[in-house]
Amino acid sequence: MSQISGSPSSGSQTESAAFVDRHVGPDADETARILSALGVASLDELATRVVPAVIADDPADTGLSALPVARTEHEVLAELAELASRNTVRRSMIGLGYYDTLTPPVILRNVLENPAWYTAYTPYQPEISQGRLEALLNFQTMISDLTGLEIANASMLDEATAAAEAMTLMRRAGKSRSPRLVVDADLFPQTRALIETRAEPLGIEIVEASLHPGLPGTGLPDGDYFGVILQTPGASGRILDVAPVVEAAHAAGALVAVGADLLALTLITPPGEQGADVAFGTSQRFGVPMGFGGPHAGYLAVHTKHARQMPGRLVGVSKDADDNLAYRLALQTREQHIRREKATSNICTAQVLLAIIAAMYAAYHGPSGLRAIARRVHERAALLANSLTAAGFAVKSATFFDTITVRSEGRAAHYVTAARRAGFNLWQVDEDTLRIACDETTTPADVDALLGAFSAAGVVPREFAQPIETRTSEYLSHPAFNRYRTETSMLRYLRALSDKDIALDRSMIPLGSCTMKLNATAEMEPITWREFTGLHPFAPAEDTVGIREMIARVESWLVTITGYDRISLQPNAGSQGEYAGLLAIRHYHHSRGDSRRDVCLIPSSAHGTNAASAAMVGMRVVVVGCRENGDVDVDDLRAKIADHGDRLAAIMITYPSTHGVFEHDIRDICAAVHDAGGQVYVDGANLNALVGVARPGRFGGDVSHLNLHKTFCIPHGGGGPGVGPVAVRSHLAPFLPGHPLAPELPGDITISAAPYGSASILPITYAYIAMMGAQGLRRATLTAIASANYIARRLGEYFPVLYTGHEGTGTDGTDEYGWVAHECILDLRGLTKATGVTVDDVAKRLADYGFHAPTMSFPVAGTLMVEPTESENLDELDAFCDAMISIRAEIDEVAKGTWPADDNPLHGAPHTAECLVGEWDHAYSREVAVYPQGLPSAGARTKVWPSVRRIDGTYGDRNLVCSCPPVEAFAE
Ligand SMILES: Cc1ncc(COP(=O)(O)O)c(C=O)c1O
Repeated sequence: MSQISGSPSSGSQTESAAFVDRHVGPDADETARILSALGVASLDELATRVVPAVIADDPADTGLSALPVARTEHEVLAELAELASRNTVRRSMIGLGYYDTLTPPVILRNVLENPAWYTAYTPYQPEISQGRLEALLNFQTMISDLTGLEIANASMLDEATAAAEAMTLMRRAGKSRSPRLVVDADLFPQTRALIETRAEPLGIEIVEASLHPGLPGTGLPDGDYFGVILQTPGASGRILDVAPVVEAAHAAGALVAVGADLLALTLITPPGEQGADVAFGTSQRFGVPMGFGGPHAGYLAVHTKHARQMPGRLVGVSKDADDNLAYRLALQTREQHIRREKATSNICTAQVLLAIIAAMYAAYHGPSGLRAIARRVHERAALLANSLTAAGFAVKSATFFDTITVRSEGRAAHYVTAARRAGFNLWQVDEDTLRIACDETTTPADVDALLGAFSAAGVVPREFAQPIETRTSEYLSHPAFNRYRTETSMLRYLRALSDKDIALDRSMIPLGSCTMKLNATAEMEPITWREFTGLHPFAPAEDTVGIREMIARVESWLVTITGYDRISLQPNAGSQGEYAGLLAIRHYHHSRGDSRRDVCLIPSSAHGTNAASAAMVGMRVVVVGCRENGDVDVDDLRAKIADHGDRLAAIMITYPSTHGVFEHDIRDICAAVHDAGGQVYVDGANLNALVGVARPGRFGGDVSHLNLHKTFCIPHGGGGPGVGPVAVRSHLAPFLPGHPLAPELPGDITISAAPYGSASILPITYAYIAMMGAQGLRRATLTAIASANYIARRLGEYFPVLYTGHEGTGTDGTDEYGWVAHECILDLRGLTKATGVTVDDVAKRLADYGFHAPTMSFPVAGTLMVEPTESENLDELDAFCDAMISIRAEIDEVAKGTWPADDNPLHGAPHTAECLVGEWDHAYSREVAVYPQGLPSAGARTKVWPSVRRIDGTYGDRNLVCSCPPVEAFAE
């Protein structure tokens, strides 16, 4: 019997409370009060009212019986520990873009394991996000300094996707109309594969070249090409003198992107100084564990002249209403929502938390510390090269940083095996060739042990390696990288930054479409276990048995939950899942000779990433209108289908919709598209309203991506990491992602650098599902829906709820009101028109009340979208509603003329402590400014003090500064 009520579950769990009762905010009594306010008797009754019968699963058989029964936190941790113990963590010397690293414990504990950092959202509300914005600015400064280019963004999803973005950036920014891209033969294989995947739908032709300054034309091909992508140090370890290549490429009218290792850049001349136009790479080895492939922060840097071509998010410096320096997201932050299919890229969620760790690693070590680490790494590699040369091995290149390529006729496998016996994983290139990569964890004892495996112990090294230190320019001279060398100062810096931000550890974050639910500690704990973090993504399968089993279980559970047949966990954000899913559709049509199908229908309400992803797979976006009630206009849909006939490739539809309602026509919509030969992409970012209630794979979807960083508890990390698995029905399964170095994944397309994407954070999703069980998951979904409807009911009379979908049936049997799904849109446009108070004013004013704003102006301009999730208890829901109602009363005072339109607490919000000091000549009092609900009594909510006033966005965009401002800028 899978029926659930609002009562806490006891189940077979032995701990004092079942996990579901820790995860779900409202207890039995609160749930009953919420339900009573909604006029329904139980969560199951709510389900029958809200979820269209045509898609709803039978509550007695939700199809989730294949999920394991719910277990306690400690039982699941023990189970994960058992899986972890099946992994073997050997010393990884595989390289290829992933290196072992020592995360400073102060950063591990106070960033990666600290909810003040990991539960924050993307800093769209900059006034309450100054801490992470400053940390990201440090990241950008670090990348810009090390690469020698002026502008770096706030992270990319990984190195390979950054390379692919570099490719499209060069195509957009350059003057050449050639379709050809030259790629260095010494690129990492995963980077090469991903570039090929991204190039094909765009008609870009890849030409491989062996680049060498000594070759005629430095090895660049004859004929035209729009860009060159090269890597230094390359996969083989060789350092390439980039300048002659850049010169030759520029002469041919092409731009050049250089994949560069950040640690190596502390010693060698940076690409920017060698004339390169773009630099890309990863910051993984700056304190972020390998974690079987991710998550890590990729990077991308360009010259100022290409700033507007930059994909992803860019933190910029601006000023607030009191002229104080303040940080914010600059330029194209929301560009997908504005430019849709013309956006520079589909990247939305990036890798903020990991970027912050890397930046703090650099701050903790400082330039001299980083240089010392780099020298040590190089010395170890040089010692190995010199010793192996002395022992008679052929070492390929004399200029290398950390990686050496060793040749031994027919004996590569032999030495790789010998090294394994000694506890090391090396990389075998072919029968004759192997590679060894050193990192900051490599010790002299490791070098000795390795030499032993090559029967070269005790040889007298012969000078082979050449000096590599060509860098003369300074880097990381800003105080941010020189002030925090002691643990005390770093600890306080991290605390001071996070104190400026509202994350989930302070308050609910009612961001519609973002699902800011609990990220439970038990879910987070395993992600820092060495048995998971210490695995290289290309380590031999026998070393990674436990994590593979964990991945397989997560895959099978997600298949059960979604009703699809197969899933790939490779995409490392929702945008990448979208891309993978659309590419699967494209390949499916092509495999059937249907290559003309290139039209993608997208409702006007869709998330901007949908259109951007469609453009990236070479599809033409055709917008389908929405009806007044927010639903897809089925008549318009049918007309568009008729217009495009056999050109129809797909529809991308978000369900429940971005308008926050369950559309009742969903089955008809899917059928109409199928009848016309198209495929149905159900954007699963809103799966929090479906789990245990309905399955997209059963109600018409051919493919969906899920956002594990929403529904399945992976924290947002201030703007990443994410995991965006792509789930498909069986006919699309052959087109799921593969990987050049993971033969078990046979697909031809590569979506992420690592075969299993951000594998090291999958224990979070594993633990969540295992601790919740089928019933717990359904209860979470229905509680989220109940709470959203509760808010809609309480706030509806103060701020009209824009869409309430299909009218429901009231308790007395009449159709009284409609229902929202798991979020509701509050329409402020009428109030704005009447009073001049905007959504911005309300959003900023909420900070004075101690709350994070809801999603602003998405999907409808002038509205706020509220998503409470299931994790907030009734007290918190009511506190938020009380704050909103109080704000409505303030708006009324503005309307009445009590306060002028340009001098009222909304217009002045948010208020800092500093703004209270000195003259106060406002039409409202200081008390109203900062304690709008009166002075707090004991036990009341803790006051949040925003650290800056309202930020001037336009000023920041007009005066673009994207790296740390000089200290003088902070002076009075
Ligand atoms: C409906 C929808 N689709 C797609 C995405 C993109 O997901 P991601 O940010 O992980 O790339 C989002 C993100 O907010 C979303 O809400």
